[in-house]
Amino acid sequence: MRLVVNGRARTLQPEPGETLLETLRDRLHLRGTKAGCEQGECGACTVHINDRPAYSCLALSCGLDGAAVTTIEGIASGDALHPVQAAFVDCDAVQCGYCTPGQVMSVIALLQRHPDPTDEQIREAMAGNLCRCGTYPKIVAAIRQAAVALRAAPAS
Ligand code: FES
Ligand code: FES
Repeated sequence: MRLVVNGRARTLQPEPGETLLETLRDRLHLRGTKAGCEQGECGACTVHINDRPAYSCLALSCGLDGAAVTTIEGIASGDALHPVQAAFVDCDAVQCGYCTPGQVMSVIALLQRHPDPTDEQIREAMAGNLCRCGTYPKIVAAIRQAAVALRAAPAS
């Protein structure tokens, strides 16, 4: 089967029960995507599948033939952080950092759908990403800062 991961075509032979999380971390060595609960409850493993946020621990790789997958490793432009990553740094929205890759992927998807999100849209979009460190207020500040930056950025 084939996957396009961060813009690069990959040919793979996953085991029948292998999750996308396992494929990314163990087969492709993309370890930015974190393994948390592995039961679809924490959001640490969030990636984009065909431009939509998804828990990679719940997706079976063998069912994704032809899909485009974006991980945290695929969002920066060279050495330049993605505006959402930069906002997380600026707003100090990271404590232990374990939840951060998943949070960032959910924020990018949120801002693609809602460039100027309401509080309710933020709550709804981020409800599936838990942070054990309780960094939520700073994450919301980062979302607001990134939204402004992305609205001001020239369309690519
Ligand atoms: S590891 Fe996938 S939702 Fe927790
Ligand atoms: S920053 Fe530690 S779990 Fe979120």
